[in-house]
Amino acid sequence: MGTAETAVLPPHATLLRNVTLVDGSGAPARIGDLLLAGGHIVAVGEVPRGLLENIGTLEELDCAGLVAAPGFIDVHTHDDAAAIERPDMLPKLSQGVTTVIVGNCGISLAPVVTDAPAAPLSLLGTREFRYPSMASYAGAVNTAAPSVNVAALQGHTALRIRHVRDLDGPATAQERSAMAAAMQEAMDAGALGLSSGVFYREAYAADTEELVAVASVAARNGGIYATHIRDELAGIVPALHEAARTARHAGLPLVISHHKCAGPANWGRTRETLPLVDELARGQEIALDVYPYTAGSTVLREDLVDGIIDVLVTGSRPHPEMAGRYIAEIAREWDVNQQEAARRLMPGGACYFQMREDDVERVIRHPLSMIGSDGLPHDEHPHPRLWGAFPRVLALYWRDTGVLQLEEAVHKMTGLSARRFRLAGRGELKAGHAADVVLFDPKRVRDAATFERPAQASEGILKVWVNGALSYTAEAGSTGARTGRFLRRDMRSSAG
Ligand code: ZN
Ligand code: CU
Repeated sequence: MGTAETAVLPPHATLLRNVTLVDGSGAPARIGDLLLAGGHIVAVGEVPRGLLENIGTLEELDCAGLVAAPGFIDVHTHDDAAAIERPDMLPKLSQGVTTVIVGNCGISLAPVVTDAPAAPLSLLGTREFRYPSMASYAGAVNTAAPSVNVAALQGHTALRIRHVRDLDGPATAQERSAMAAAMQEAMDAGALGLSSGVFYREAYAADTEELVAVASVAARNGGIYATHIRDELAGIVPALHEAARTARHAGLPLVISHHKCAGPANWGRTRETLPLVDELARGQEIALDVYPYTAGSTVLREDLVDGIIDVLVTGSRPHPEMAGRYIAEIAREWDVNQQEAARRLMPGGACYFQMREDDVERVIRHPLSMIGSDGLPHDEHPHPRLWGAFPRVLALYWRDTGVLQLEEAVHKMTGLSARRFRLAGRGELKAGHAADVVLFDPKRVRDAATFERPAQASEGILKVWVNGALSYTAEAGSTGARTGRFLRRDMRSSAG
């Protein structure tokens, strides 16, 4: 099948020989060859001899004992500005990630223009709020030429901040139509859909009418709806129902962001929430994303500091010297309670050790879950998920504990993700697909980033190709190739 479309081969090609192919579809691994040329995957499994004769220079790699998989797709990121400011994108590239989806949790750069973004927009840093439209953001990504591909959701909170005068109330009819027009612009520019973060104060007052009005625009254009639901603590069940209702009324697929049961009072409740998701998913398309840690991370908020769970400071504007230290310890030093310490450290960020391992494991095991790091690239002392999420899934949930099969783990990082987020031509090792490929050592792959030392490249990720260019090697790190680009959503799934 590959031969017809590859009659004219470019002069240079790369052949991975005897490699264990885990193709991203969830199908059983098999040993074979993989031929990359001209930015695409040309053949998978058996490479016809005739094909190779016409190639000028063929680079052959003997990959016995190693795994080749589609480049990982990080479906939950806040790399909106990082992809432009630090286009080497080493935290992601070094994990084997070749595509990041930005704009999660309601937060996106476009269409906000400001020098002083407030929380939660400040999770994206402070310098890059200068794109009045998704089209201008997409252009900036392409100009910056990051090392990984970037696909974007339009953030609902960003739309609110741009178009709603009183953030403590729902949008007026006029404001709703301004938001809908901006949403249409984003979809025209290739956005994957809408994200919301009604958990955050700036969006908390949004009512169903407002959310449905904006989501309907995404729906008409074949987009999806990803949401950081209103409550991941005691009120998680009504919050899940709200998210499902919004998606149903607007008529589009739902992704529940970083699904978790947060807070000691809710530990174990994934036994309740996952069956609910299954039940809802019988009537509408639903997926989940999840990161493989029991700590979450977001802005520092005193209401999230309960005095029970550990809270690690990831950054503090008034007290930058406290990054990397625990609130309990700081509170003792200052002789105040933990909430008071949090108040004094704000604005800032923190890791909250708010989940229990069995819940995380249950979500990771669930067939509808995909892996997303939710890494925060602007924190001084970031949550280790920024550098470690993907290799950690392979090391901890496949190799060390067997919670997942290898094929399943890779599927949750590639094929399933591309399908659910409407990314065409990626996510599987398939002739004709873009040559986004990771080569790793299944015996050694593991995350090295920890809560103590979070900025560590993972181990066992040997080579990463992005759109056919070798972009990372374990020995040399980044090769300097910066072949990522802004990816538009798959227009074939578009109704309008
Ligand atoms: Zn979130
Ligand atoms: Cu997030």
